[in-house]
Amino acid sequence: MAKNMIIGQSGGPTAVINASLAGAIEYALECNEIENIYGMVHGIQGLLEDNIKDLSAHFANRPSRLNRLRTTPAMFLGSCRFKLSNSDEEYEKIVSQLEKYDIGYFFYIGGNDSMDTVDKLSKYIAKNNIDIKVVGIPKTIDNDLMGIDHTPGFASAAKYIALAVRNVAYDTAIYSIKSVHIIEAMGRNAGWLAASSVLCRDSKNVAPHLIYLPEIPFSVDKFVSDIKAKLEEYNSVIVVVSEGVRDENGKYISARGDKVDKFGHIMLSGTGAYLKEVVEEQIGCKVRALEPSVLQRSAGHTPSLTDITEAQNLGLVAVKAAVAGESGVFSTLRRVSNKPYTVEYYTERVSVAANAEKTVPLEWITQSGNDVTNDMVEYLKPLVRGVPQIPYRDGLPDYVNVSYLDKAKQKYKN
Ligand code: F6P
Repeated sequence: MAKNMIIGQSGGPTAVINASLAGAIEYALECNEIENIYGMVHGIQGLLEDNIKDLSAHFANRPSRLNRLRTTPAMFLGSCRFKLSNSDEEYEKIVSQLEKYDIGYFFYIGGNDSMDTVDKLSKYIAKNNIDIKVVGIPKTIDNDLMGIDHTPGFASAAKYIALAVRNVAYDTAIYSIKSVHIIEAMGRNAGWLAASSVLCRDSKNVAPHLIYLPEIPFSVDKFVSDIKAKLEEYNSVIVVVSEGVRDENGKYISARGDKVDKFGHIMLSGTGAYLKEVVEEQIGCKVRALEPSVLQRSAGHTPSLTDITEAQNLGLVAVKAAVAGESGVFSTLRRVSNKPYTVEYYTERVSVAANAEKTVPLEWITQSGNDVTNDMVEYLKPLVRGVPQIPYRDGLPDYVNVSYLDKAKQKYKN
C-alpha cells in the first residue's frame, strides 16, 4: 500500500542542495509506492512545530518550477541547526507527527550533524518496530563527510573559490606596488575549500601563492616569513587561508570569542581580518582581507554541472533505496575513474557519516605546509567541470519563490 513521504533540509546551505530535493521529488512523483510528498519547513524543528508544506501540490505537473528548483541555491524548505535530544518524549512527538501525516518514508538532506539526526531517528524507529524508512541525503560545502568521495555542494563552492581567487589575482596584478590579499575560505575543521583555490592556477597564473589548511598547525611567525619570501618574488601576493586554522595548541586563530552554535561548534570567521592586522604591523605593505563568507555557498550563478547532476542523483537514489526497504542509510557515491570521470551510486550505513569529520589527507599537503600537492589537483579537477543551463529572467537567474518562508511577508501578502 502506498504511503506518504516527508523530506527536510538542515545545516548550512549549498548551491545545489535544492537539486537533491528536486531529484527526490521528481522520482517520488512517478513512484507508485509514494502517495503524497510533504516538506518539513525548517527541518526537524518544523516537523515538531507542525510547519509542513505539501510539495506534491506545489510541484506536480509543474516541470518548469521543478527545473528552476534544481538551479536555485540555498534551501527551498529552510534550514535549522537542531540537535535531537535523547529524550523519549521528543522521539514520541516526532513519530506522532509522522503518523499524523501517514508517513512511510522520511528523508533528511544535510551534513554530519543532520546524519546524526537520521542515525538516531532510524534507530529509535527500528527499536520500536515502527514501519517508517529513514534515509539521509548528503550535502555540505565543507566536504567533510565520511563515507562519500565528495559531498554535493562542495564542488560548486570550490568552483566559486577558484573563480574568485583567479579574478582577485588578475585585479591585483595591475599595480607595481607591493600588496598582500588574504582570502578566507569556509570549511570549519577541514581544508578542502581553501585547497580548491589551487584550481585557479594555470599556465598564465601562479596565484594563490600560499594556501593554509586547518590540518596543519598554523604559526603566525611562519606565515609572516612565508609572505616576506613571496614578496621578494612578486608584487602582489595572494594568500588563501581556511577559516578553521588553529595554532599548535589547537586554538582557532579566529576564535576571539567563545560563541557556539546548537551543535557546540565554535562560530568561525575573522581569520583573514586578524591576519591582515598581523601583516600590516609586521610587514607594513598594502593589505586587504577578503571574506567571501556566504557568497561561496550561495553562488547560484556559477555552480558546477557535475555537482548539480550528482546532487540530483543522490536525491533520487535515496528515495529508491527507501522504497526498496532500506533505512538507517544515506545515499552516497564513489569515484570509479578520473579519466573519464565516472561515479557509482550506492547506500551506506548513516552511522559512518554521523558526527564524524573527513579532513584533507596530510600527504596531499606539501612539506612546507603552505600548499597542496598534485593529488589534490587531480581529485578536484573533474568536480568543477560543466556549466548548467540556468533559467534567466531580466538578466538574472530566475530562482523559485521562497518568500513563503518569511511568515510576516506571507501574512502581508494574504
Ligand atoms: O557547515 C557549512 C558552513 O558553511 C561552514 O563552512 C561554516 O563554518 C558554517 O556553515 C557557517 O554556518 P552559519 O551560516 O550557520 O553561521
